[in-house]
Amino acid sequence: MRVLVSGGAGYIGSHTVLALLEHGHDVVIVDDFANSKPTVLGRLETLSGKTIPLHAFDLTDADKTEHLFASEKFDAVIHFAGFKAVGESVEKPLDYYRNNLDSTFSLLRAMTRHGVDKLVFSSSATVYGDTAPVPYHEDYEPLSASSPYGRTKVMIERVLTDVATITDGFRVALLRYFNPVGAHPSGMIGEDPQGIPNNLMPFIAQVAVGRRDKLRVFGDDYPTKDGTGERDYIHVMDLAAGHVAALEHLPTMDEPVRAFNLGTGEGTSVLELLHAFERAVGHELPYEVVERRAGDLPAYWADPTRAQQELGWQATHTIDDMCADTWRWQSENPNGFPEG
Ligand code: WQD
Repeated sequence: MRVLVSGGAGYIGSHTVLALLEHGHDVVIVDDFANSKPTVLGRLETLSGKTIPLHAFDLTDADKTEHLFASEKFDAVIHFAGFKAVGESVEKPLDYYRNNLDSTFSLLRAMTRHGVDKLVFSSSATVYGDTAPVPYHEDYEPLSASSPYGRTKVMIERVLTDVATITDGFRVALLRYFNPVGAHPSGMIGEDPQGIPNNLMPFIAQVAVGRRDKLRVFGDDYPTKDGTGERDYIHVMDLAAGHVAALEHLPTMDEPVRAFNLGTGEGTSVLELLHAFERAVGHELPYEVVERRAGDLPAYWADPTRAQQELGWQATHTIDDMCADTWRWQSENPNGFPEG
């Protein structure tokens, strides 16, 4: 299929672009580099051995989006583009609602106008809110979220459901990610957060490479195996494979829209992840236990059964794989991608 990948220069988008190309799909990227760097494209072309067309504009521009679909034919869209920092979304809710919702509206309007009726959407486990029983199952209702970022995901899932339901042939997969980590085994692409990392794995990696002094562990008094928070970490290569599996499932999917958890079904604690990273680096890493972070849940992980049964997909990489691949990327790119 010829696939438009929005946010294809980003962390998960770039790994998915590679997986799509390896599976024989044609890929076009649209990205405004709000949270990524143009130098990713050169790495992707080196890794894939292919030229990858890029359109560099903001999808909230409905006219530019319409023009793209009027001038090029796509069989499907994978929609990653969006702001995704939980804390920032609390400070700038209107920016998050406008960017994440308007970009989706532009895409959907252009898709329905031009008969593009297959969509894979980058959603998040955050839509399960604070009260869902663990492991999280896709049928859980009501969806909710505890940040404007998470609420944009809940709203977009609702919009996509309503549009798919009344549009013949439209098929949407809502992929609910747990905690994406890791990097391509080449070490040439990986997670490159701007500024101080909010997330655990990139922060540990920056401590290991000397950019941060120590890891602050946000609380060790949770009701978990060692008192620290537990999450379902999933290797970005597994996540990318899940997107290809979902895309290829759409033409034969009975329902207009269907959610799928992309997780391992296993919980890993903060200290377990830290010690796994120490094994990858070969020495201990400094950390200090501090107070809990507001809004954090103690522990959650996926029920991954539906994706296994319906997409024929399951995560295969281990926590040690995730740390070894992250460390290779970080040690070979201490400051992330070059500015370009
Ligand atoms: C993981 C664990 C922290 C940093 C977030 C978003 C979610 C999704 C994934 C987009 C927790 C602890 C963290 C640190 C720490 N993003 N931690 N010190 O919060 O599970 O999920 O990213 O969809 O929407 O909410 O990920 O990596 O921030 O935290 O101790 O410096 O690590 O308390 O237990 P989280 P995280």
